[in-house]
Amino acid sequence: MMVPWRRHCVPDALSVDLSKDRPYLRPMAILPILEVPDPRLKTISKPVESFDDDLKTLVNDMIETMYAAPGIGLAAIQVGVPKRLLVIDLQEEEAEGEEPLRNPRVFVNPEILDPSNEHSLYNEGCLSVPDQYAEVERPAQIRARWQDLDGKVHEEVMTGLMATCLQHEMDHLEGILFIDHLSRLKRQMVLKKIEKARKMGGGHVHGPDCRH
Ligand code: NI
Repeated sequence: MMVPWRRHCVPDALSVDLSKDRPYLRPMAILPILEVPDPRLKTISKPVESFDDDLKTLVNDMIETMYAAPGIGLAAIQVGVPKRLLVIDLQEEEAEGEEPLRNPRVFVNPEILDPSNEHSLYNEGCLSVPDQYAEVERPAQIRARWQDLDGKVHEEVMTGLMATCLQHEMDHLEGILFIDHLSRLKRQMVLKKIEKARKMGGGHVHGPDCRH
């Protein structure tokens, strides 16, 4: 997930190479993020069954990818892996001149229990829906249950942006994007804007060095 007011707040310095401190680990990799209208984003992800080293490697790469984007949440299917797995770091604003606070959280096989009747509205964005934001209404409070990287079960009541972000990422596990919560007309407008931006930014501009 992305939120507009955080977009430009994450300095490049965040992409530190943690492998320097831990030489026994292979460097983390930044993975390509799938974008609409990639049909893989509509996949219903499967439960994680083995809590092994491959899972830990994938999670490390997802965290690095989320920071590099930058985003505050990423589901495995967004990097093409259909597993019920997501990472979140709300990256609370650091005080000026201080190190950014990093607190990545990993949710394996997450579930939502007891969504509140009270709803809240957030201006949401998504790394798979580039540069587009829209207000989405979701339950303001949820109780979440999930497993950690060792398979241990946790439960916690979530509110505020954490509740919204967790619900946004969990939607990805069902193949649902935040734009699927909008009206058909609004959704089509968003998709058209993305297509137009790609055409303008992605096209080849002929210059003096062209050989064709
Ligand atoms: Ni998203």
